[in-house]
Amino acid sequence: MNCRTTLPSWHALSAASEQLKEQHLKTLFDTDSERFDKFSRQIPGVLFDFSKQLIDSNVFEQLIKLAKESDVAAWRDKMFSGEKINITEDRAVLHIALRNRDATPIFVDGINVTEQVQAELEKIKVFTDRVRSGEWTGYTGKTVKDIVAIGVGGSNLGPQMVTEALDAYSDGNLNVHYVSNVDGVQLGEVLKKVHAETTLFVISSKTFTTSETMNNARSAVSWFLDSAIEQSAVAKHFVAVSTNLEKTRAFGIADENVFTMWDWVGGRFSLWSAIGLPIALYLGFETFVEVLEGAFEVDTHFKTAEFENNIPLIMALLSVWNSSFLGYTSQAILPYDQALHMLPAYLQQGEMESNGKHVTFDGQTVPYTTVPIIWGMTGINGQHAFYQCLHQGNVIVPSDFIASVEPQIALGNHHDVLLSNFFAQTEALMAGVNEQEIREDLAAKGKSESEIEKLVAHKIHQGNRPTTSMILDKVDAKAVGRLIALYEHKIFCQGIILNVCSFDQWGVELGKGLASNIEAELKQDNIRHDHDSSTSGLIAYYKQKRNS
Ligand code: F6P
Repeated sequence: MNCRTTLPSWHALSAASEQLKEQHLKTLFDTDSERFDKFSRQIPGVLFDFSKQLIDSNVFEQLIKLAKESDVAAWRDKMFSGEKINITEDRAVLHIALRNRDATPIFVDGINVTEQVQAELEKIKVFTDRVRSGEWTGYTGKTVKDIVAIGVGGSNLGPQMVTEALDAYSDGNLNVHYVSNVDGVQLGEVLKKVHAETTLFVISSKTFTTSETMNNARSAVSWFLDSAIEQSAVAKHFVAVSTNLEKTRAFGIADENVFTMWDWVGGRFSLWSAIGLPIALYLGFETFVEVLEGAFEVDTHFKTAEFENNIPLIMALLSVWNSSFLGYTSQAILPYDQALHMLPAYLQQGEMESNGKHVTFDGQTVPYTTVPIIWGMTGINGQHAFYQCLHQGNVIVPSDFIASVEPQIALGNHHDVLLSNFFAQTEALMAGVNEQEIREDLAAKGKSESEIEKLVAHKIHQGNRPTTSMILDKVDAKAVGRLIALYEHKIFCQGIILNVCSFDQWGVELGKGLASNIEAELKQDNIRHDHDSSTSGLIAYYKQKRNS
């Protein structure tokens, strides 16, 4: 694979970044009345406006060249055809197969995975229909009222984010509760609200070895058996989603109650698989399928659109431009739609677990910033918290603003107020407020010369803060599928352009091992002496306090 920094486009972009750093976005808008038309794109249900990014036509052209010189098209084709592009784990990367709605065959090791996916979807359909219709009953013959979904990371964030996003469409017959934290408070609080007779637990873990999930699952079984007494009742109240049948069996879950996934589904890209079972249970199988359909539309766009019009590719290029060339190493995700309130948390995993890497595909140290720090919250709440820093801080944080034309729930003029803020914020971040405007404003308010002198510097907003705006028609199941797939393909392209393997997560695996060693130590009387003095001191303090 070629070294990115030696590519002609990389050189051109490095040079252009020096010039662009001297530019102001407001000037770029003032001198080009067609800027919005040039730098915005649409697909059904999505307007994508990147005209408030600090780019010009030359930079855009060079970014497209960078994608070409990085072989994005060839890598995209390898992914879609099931090649094992997750080179460190020797796996295909096929979340697209999970929403392959035209059923094109895709082969991995000679097996048509599309058929496997269809069979599993059918199993999900049958099961969710049985639970939702009341045909599936618990050990006392009562129907299910509460779903408790236990899982962490990719086995939690996707389903929970989608459930929250589409909560407005629930028929209200079932409740769903997510438990991801091994902190007993989370499970304990949920168990206070549910009854053993009417609760279905979904234990989601690709590996079925993740300690947090297994601890929560064991505690859930033990709580359940306090009421149910008969071990056989577990079969009616516990189902699993996993690739590891041996472990699910050992845990006591019958094979017919295990929904499968495959090693070619990465945890953070798994909500389209049986990991999405809680979504289907809560909202109905048809709604789950609509999420898949929305994603499939974007898969088709990603596969077929020219690079210049390819939205996920452009998203990736802008991220690389901002972090690797302009040096903006943080990125905010700011939904102006309450339904998307978990999107920042979801994308933190999606982007940072995928592209938070320090070596290239062939193991060389990367000489540029890979993924920026992803963070954020709903825009309105952010406005009253950290936007001060976005407007006037001395770090620049490129931000994605996401809103929708139609609200999920129409209430008076709330949506217009919300959207007014969405428009106003990106305009202010772009244009800023200059010294002359502030002086005129203060003078008009009757301030004296000395008062103006005292205030003026504090009130300057430099502007020139890059943002992307996305407007969806309405946050419904298809829109959520489209939005997530856009970001997934963005992450893929970003990884290829940055030349990192986006599909493994060795940094997380390290943490898993470390914690389990110390867990054993917490049970022993003596303290190991091969930690650093800080870690030993912290452990000793904890054990002494716990045992006193
Ligand atoms: O958080 C790290 C991670 O490995 C994620 O990639 C994964 O989604 C999560 O753990 C959960 O893993 P599992 O589904 O195997 O329990």
